[in-house]
Order: sequence, then structure tokens, then C-alpha cells
Amino acid sequence: MPKKPNSPDFVVGIIGAGAMGRGIAQIVATGGIGVLLFDTKDDAAATGKDFADRMIFRACEKGLMSEEEAKGAVGRLEVADKLSDLADADLVIEAVIEDLDVKREVFLSLEECVTKDCVLVTNTSSLSVTAIAAVMKYPGRFAGFHFFNPVPLMKIVEVVNGLETNEETCEILVRIARRVGHEPVRAKDTPGFLVNHAGRGLNTEGVRIVSEGITNFSGVDDLLREGGPNFRMGPFELMDTTGLDVSHPVMESIYHQFYGEPRFRPNPLTLQRSVAGLHGRKTGRGFYTYRNNKKIQNLEKGAPEVIPESIWISKAEPEGHDLLLSALREVTEIDMGQKPSTRSLCFFTPTGSDVTSAATTEGVEAERSFGVDTLFGLDGRRTLMSTPVSDPDLRDLVHAALAADGHAVTVIHDSPGFVNQRVVATIVNIACDIAQQRIASPSDIDKAVTLGLGYPVGPLSMGDNVGAKRVLKILNAMYDFYGDPRYRASPWLKRRALLGVSLLTLEN
Ligand SMILES: NC(=O)c1ccc[n+]([C@@H]2O[C@H](COP(=O)([O-])OP(=O)(O)OC[C@H]3O[C@@H](n4cnc5c(N)ncnc54)[C@H](O)[C@@H]3O)[C@@H](O)[C@H]2O)c1
Repeated sequence: MPKKPNSPDFVVGIIGAGAMGRGIAQIVATGGIGVLLFDTKDDAAATGKDFADRMIFRACEKGLMSEEEAKGAVGRLEVADKLSDLADADLVIEAVIEDLDVKREVFLSLEECVTKDCVLVTNTSSLSVTAIAAVMKYPGRFAGFHFFNPVPLMKIVEVVNGLETNEETCEILVRIARRVGHEPVRAKDTPGFLVNHAGRGLNTEGVRIVSEGITNFSGVDDLLREGGPNFRMGPFELMDTTGLDVSHPVMESIYHQFYGEPRFRPNPLTLQRSVAGLHGRKTGRGFYTYRNNKKIQNLEKGAPEVIPESIWISKAEPEGHDLLLSALREVTEIDMGQKPSTRSLCFFTPTGSDVTSAATTEGVEAERSFGVDTLFGLDGRRTLMSTPVSDPDLRDLVHAALAADGHAVTVIHDSPGFVNQRVVATIVNIACDIAQQRIASPSDIDKAVTLGLGYPVGPLSMGDNVGAKRVLKILNAMYDFYGDPRYRASPWLKRRALLGVSLLTLEN
């Protein structure tokens, strides 16, 4: 029988004392569990321990623990000189380089020296847990235990069950995770597990928008941060932080592992910039330029000031119409006619479609037609969208009207779903499909994405906030427009939208 995870004499062995191993050692020792840290490279384990010790004392200086607790934690973290020193460990966490053969070798050697009750786990981010387990004698006691960098700050860990992993193994890992102050989420062994799979939408759709010439990098980032969805970072800021040398290969790898799933299709834009060495903060240049690791801000051009004499707002989308009407009522004369008078400039508030389609459907001239995204309200940065034949002088007038009460406005080219609608719908759709494939439970999907990716809300709740029917409408409109299976709606979303129930609804 494996030892109970709350036993006072539970011991965790950690193999690999690099960025991840030392972080894991720090939290496990701090959580009151004995740690043996091993690395094949000379002094690497001792260096890792020194680092973890310093971090523990720093946490003590910050008042996060008492001196006695810090000394206790440091005392519990020991260096192991050889692999066989881990013979009595109750759990061994492997955090060596990301190489299938090296990891398999480690577990084959480990199985020779640990007891049969010892739980064995890998911290791999991209290799298949099942593939590592394939060489093991007892794959039932083996699982993925995927921490995020930096481990002490990223309070989440994925418990990944391979094809042969026992439920008991996963339960032990869930309890250990909680004991060391981390939130466990359960995921099936699939490419990207949960967090890296759910994170596909933001970057790939952001890149697609830019590659289609709809707006530039900061146009996308600014709207996603300030235009209602409230992301802490837009996709290009995020890729500059991670570095394209890391993000682009992950995009390619997950796409290929899912046999070319169009939802994850990467774009030559990131490959080219990566090849050029524009890796973001770490190289000083990426999508943005950095000086001393600080982003150099480009000054935004001021909004035009001359306001149009009269504005007509389409009633095709009543909620959007009402929102825009209340925002513009004090700004200029509103043309309340069923059809616009010849002197009015025209606003449309489409859900999912582009403004060219919205204007032509209502028989309004595209030259004087403009779109405004009202789906996330009009309290933050606003999106103004033009048709390919919109008159630039008229565009300046409507820009001035939208900016008259002090709101920032981002002007974009025509796009089904503007920027925010299509990025949010893509993220929600991917999360729905993760739920549909039973990779993780709906509540774990939301928890993993908020803790692991720092999104303001989980993607399924994000979908509920917008409304499943609206998300479906956006995706269907994009699918109709592009004919690209990338935008096909997940069955999970379709059924819940039809039933009018939450996207978090589990099947009985
Ligand atoms: N760095 C991250 O952001 C991150 C996040 C999540 C998961 N991971 C995964 O965690 C694992 C470790 O990543 P890292 O960033 O800590 O790597 P790292 O290069 O910082 O450290 C790896 C350590 O493993 C040691 N090592 C190599 N082969 C060994 C062996 N056979 N036995 C014992 N020690 C050995 C190396 O000497 C090195 O100290 C990888 O599988 C990686 O994919 C990394």
C-alpha cells in the first residue's frame, strides 16, 4: 500500500534540480514534507538547494512564514548524491530535460531502486505520459504532475493520467498538491494536457487577425485588455513575455500532435519572426521593442474632433442599437428613421458578421457604413470597423463621435466578429471541445485557465457571461464567412446553446 500523503514521514524525491526541480523542492519542503533532490550534473543539486533555501528565507523576510518554519523547511530539503538514495521515497518527481529517451531511462533506473508502492511522476510539458510509461514495469503508479514556472507563484498543478495510470495514484497526487499549497486539476493525457491546450485560442486567433491585415499587434492587445474582455495581456504581449523561441514550437507541436486540427493552425508570421530572432523581452525586440525589459510605448494618435451632423444606428441587433444610442445620444443628432436619411452616417453593431455584410443586408451604402462592437459594452476602449470602401473622411467623423466622451477608440478593417468577439469565441469554443472530449471537467477547465494562464475568468464562464447562443452565433457567422473548419462550433457549445443551459453543465 502506498503511504498516506498526509503521513508526517512522507518523503518526496526530485530528479533534476533545474528551474522546475528546485521550485518544486522549495514548495514541497515548505509544505512540511521531506525532500531529496538529485541531479546528474556535478553540484547542480547543491546549487538547486542553495537557491531554494534562499527563496525560503526570502519568503520569511517578507513575513510569509516564521523563522522557525523557514529553518524547518530548509532542514527538510536534502541533497541526494546518487539515484539509489531515493530508494525509500514515497513519491519521486522527475524534472529532467524534455527528452523522451532520457526520461524513460530515468524511470527504468528508478524502478530498479524504489519500492513497489512508490508513486512516480513526470513534470513533462509536452511529452506523452503514456509514451513514457510504455517502458515501465508498473505503469499504474505513474502519472504526469505538471507544474508551471515559477513553481512557487503558479499555484496550480495538472495531475495527468496516462492510459494505464491507477485512480489511487491520481488521488495521492491531488492530496500532495493540496498539502504543498497548490490547486490540483485533473487532465487526461492528451497533447498540451489542459492549460497549454486551452491556451491555443488567444495566440492563434490574435495572429490570424493581424495576418489578415485587420489591425496591428497593439490593436489586438489593446482591445483585449481595455475593450471589455479584460485580459491582463494581449496575445502579442504574452508571446513577447514567453518568447517566440518557446511559443512558436509549442504552437506547431500541439497542431501536429492533433493531426492538423484547424483550430490550432499556426501561422507563418510567428515562424518568420522567430527565425529572425525577434524573441521578445529576452532579445529586446519582439512584436514590441523593449529597453531594460520595459516596453517602449508608441504614442497613440489623438482622435479627430469634428463630429458628424447626424448618425443612424441599425436596429438589426436591438441590444447593440440601444447601447450605442445611449452612448451617442448626447454627442450628435440621432436619425431615428427606419432607413437612414441621405445626410446620416450609419452604424451597425453586428454579432459575428462583418460590417460589409451587415450594411449590404440592409441595403445601406458601404461608403458611409461603420461597425461598432457593443458585445462587451462601451465602457472601455471602443472598436470602430470600416468596410473596404468606407470614405476615410467619414471614418474620421464617426471616430470623433465615438471618442467624444473621452473613450479610446481602435479603428480596424472589416472583420467578422471584430477583434474581441472572435478571439473570445475561439477561446470558449476550444474550452468547450476540451470538455466534450472529456479531457477535464468543466470546473477544472475554468480553474486551470484562471490560475495557469491568468485569464480574468475561466473560458466556460466567459462563454456563459457572453451567452452560449451569442458565442455560437459568432462562430457560425465566422464559419459561414471563411468556410474554415477552424471556426466550426464544438458539439458541447451547440447543445448547451440549444438547451439554454450553462457551458459548465456536465452530462448526467
Ligand atoms: N521551464 C519551464 O517553464 C517548464 C514548465 C513546466 C514544465 N517544464 C518541464 O520540466 C522539466 C524540466 O525543465 P527545466 O526547465 O527545469 O529544465 P532545466 O534544464 O532547467 O533543468 C533540467 C535539470 O535536469 C538535469 N538532468 C538532465 N538529465 C538528467 C538525468 N538523467 N538525471 C538527473 N538529472 C538530469 C540537468 O542537469 C538539469 O539540472 C522538463 O520536462 C520541462 O519540459 C518546464
